[in-house]
Amino acid sequence: MNSLDQLFSAAMAARANAYAPYSGFAVGASLRTRSGAVFSGANVENASYPVGTCAEASAISAMALAGERLIFEILIVADGEALVTPCGACRQRIREFAAADAKIHVAGLDGLRASFTLDQLLPYAFGPSVGKVSP
Ligand code: THU
Repeated sequence: MNSLDQLFSAAMAARANAYAPYSGFAVGASLRTRSGAVFSGANVENASYPVGTCAEASAISAMALAGERLIFEILIVADGEALVTPCGACRQRIREFAAADAKIHVAGLDGLRASFTLDQLLPYAFGPSVGKVSP
């Protein structure tokens, strides 16, 4: 299995466990780190709507919990006609752990649809090295 197929399968498996009773819109995400490890997540909604979390956020939490800190590529999968690119907040979450040239792949249930770099989706980003004050 090639590396994108592996990410797609992992994201689909995660999506199967999405908790999306309010939107009905199940999303899966999977990411590959510098070490080659793959972490996945799905959206987990809440009766208090803003408390819900995106698939990307839960994949990033799984990665951080395992002690990993560098995302090489991430894939998002959802149903429907439109490209489901990460929301603005998730672009910033990805930026925390990824370089400008990290790949963001967008897939439908039938497979890969488009690939972007993080820089394309979040140009002129505010990132971890920007807001530091020298001692
Ligand atoms: N959602 C994600 O999990 N990731 C995205 O990239 C787009 C949106 C979720 C949030 C919410 O649970 C549902 O999709 C509808 O917006």
